[in-house]
Amino acid sequence: MRLHWSQVNGSNSTIAVYPGSFDPITSGHRDVIARAAKIAGRLIVAVLRNERKQPLFSVEERIEMLSEVVREFPNVEVDAFDGLLVDYCQSRGAHLIVRGIRAISDYEGELQMALMNRRLRPDVETVFLMAGEQYSFVSSRLIKEIIRLGGDIRGLVPPVVEARLKSRLLGG
Ligand code: PNS
Repeated sequence: MRLHWSQVNGSNSTIAVYPGSFDPITSGHRDVIARAAKIAGRLIVAVLRNERKQPLFSVEERIEMLSEVVREFPNVEVDAFDGLLVDYCQSRGAHLIVRGIRAISDYEGELQMALMNRRLRPDVETVFLMAGEQYSFVSSRLIKEIIRLGGDIRGLVPPVVEARLKSRLLGG
C-alpha cells in the first residue's frame, strides 16, 4: 500500500495552491493535481479570473469541470482568484505554489514567475512537478485546436471535458 506523505510525516498541515487558467483542465493538469495532493495536506486548485486572453469556457464552467475531476481527491478543493497570486496564497494561508513543467521550454517563463513571486512574498515557495511523460505534449491550446479540426483527443482530457469541448466547439 502506498503511504500518503502525511502518514509518513505525521499530520501534514501544508496548504498548497495550484494556479492556472485551466481552459480547460487536461489530463496533464489532472496528473499534476494527483501528485501535488500526495505532497500537500490540502491543495487548492485556483482558477485565474481576470485574464486578458479570451477564454473558451467561463470561470464558472472551468470550476465545474475541475470540481468533477478533483472529486476523487478528498484533500483537494477548487476556487477562483483575482489579483496577485501571492496575495491569494496569503489569504488562504498557503505557503506553497505548485506549477507543472512539461518540457524545458516551460522552464524559463516558470522560473521568471517563481522568482518574481518569491521577490513579492519570500515566505511563499514554488515547487515544480513533472506530469507523466505521456502528457508532455498536451496543452489546453492544442487540445482546442485538435477538436476544432476534427482530431481525436481521447485520453488527453478527462471524459467530462471531452464532452464539453465537443458540445462547445462542434455543437454536438
Ligand atoms: O495556466 P497559466 O495560464 O499558465 O497560469 C498562469 C498564472 C495564473 C499562474 C499566472 O498568470 C498568475 O499567477 N496570474 C496572477 C497574477 C500574478 O500574480 N501575476 C504575477 C506573476 S509573477
